[in-house]
Amino acid sequence: MLKKKQLADSASDDFAEDVLRSLKADPPSISSKWLYDTQGSALFEDITQVEDYYLTRTEAAIFDEAFPALAAMFGPGMAVTEFGSGASIKTRRLLSALAPDIYVPIDVAEEFLQDAAEDLHTLFPELEIIPLVADLTAPYELPAAFTRKKRRLGFFPGSTIGNFPEDVAARFLRGAREALGDGAHLLISADLVKKTEYLERAYDDSEGVTQKFTLNLLERMNKELAADFDIAKFRHVSMFNTQKSRIEIYIESLADQAVEVAGETFAFVKGDRVRTEYSYKYTPGSFAQLLEKSGWHLKQTWMDPKGWFGVFLASA
Ligand code: SAH
Ligand code: AVI
Repeated sequence: MLKKKQLADSASDDFAEDVLRSLKADPPSISSKWLYDTQGSALFEDITQVEDYYLTRTEAAIFDEAFPALAAMFGPGMAVTEFGSGASIKTRRLLSALAPDIYVPIDVAEEFLQDAAEDLHTLFPELEIIPLVADLTAPYELPAAFTRKKRRLGFFPGSTIGNFPEDVAARFLRGAREALGDGAHLLISADLVKKTEYLERAYDDSEGVTQKFTLNLLERMNKELAADFDIAKFRHVSMFNTQKSRIEIYIESLADQAVEVAGETFAFVKGDRVRTEYSYKYTPGSFAQLLEKSGWHLKQTWMDPKGWFGVFLASA
């Protein structure tokens, strides 16, 4: 059965207020959570199909091995929550393998979350689905129907944790530990450090889909914040910062120009950049350390043969 969606306090975060504040900051940035309006969420799904974006297919191959092992470990009837569930495509396979009783998908992209929950309900009519709209970097509570269950699993695929700076990632993991409770498990993916060439290609793909995904943020601001960005006068820039072990993505101005956003004017000089994303790349060791310092005990790690991507099972 599909339950009415729940909204955490963070669900009402104001797009205009957050953008105005972070555009005025030095250096300017916009939180990556705003990339995911309905159009942005669909563009991210397109990215997952792009040849240069190795993450999704590498993770899928690891899941082929991990899911049967998890099913044998846990058996049916668990409560599963998914962080940053998006289209819930990977979830279908997890739900088929694990046969849980309850599934709580959590995402900031409200409309996309609702549509994905409806699609899942058609596929798994017996499963109790309770969508939760929340910002994972802020406090949230899981529904009582979930926390009441004895066996609880948090699922955080895609390496979305890599989009959080390290302090935020640690705070998220501690929050998840608290929300899931004693005895719970967490299945979480992280993209791993590899040759810069492969990393940079994944975030500036030859089909131009990542470029569209980034610049869609300007379209979203034009639609929702009465902004007047001329999309042709900006470009997507991405690079791997070796020292910080992260991909950095920026929107760069191609001209000297002034833009209106939510009633305020912002001047850009040619070459000025606004950061829109980080995507941290871990080693198996640095990710294990992050888990352990955030209250989780690492139980098992799965990796692809090239060691490009990791899936980690931890217990609370
Ligand atoms: N889990 C899917 C989707 C990953 S895309 C997969 O692995 O393919 C990242 C998802 O996380 C998007 O659906 C986006 O809306 C969500 N997201 C990003 N930042 C978030 C935040 N701060 N709080 C909640 N959801 C967030
Ligand atoms: C959702 N997240 C894990 C993606 C990533 O790989 O960091 C977002 C993304 N941004 C550009 N391409 C993909």
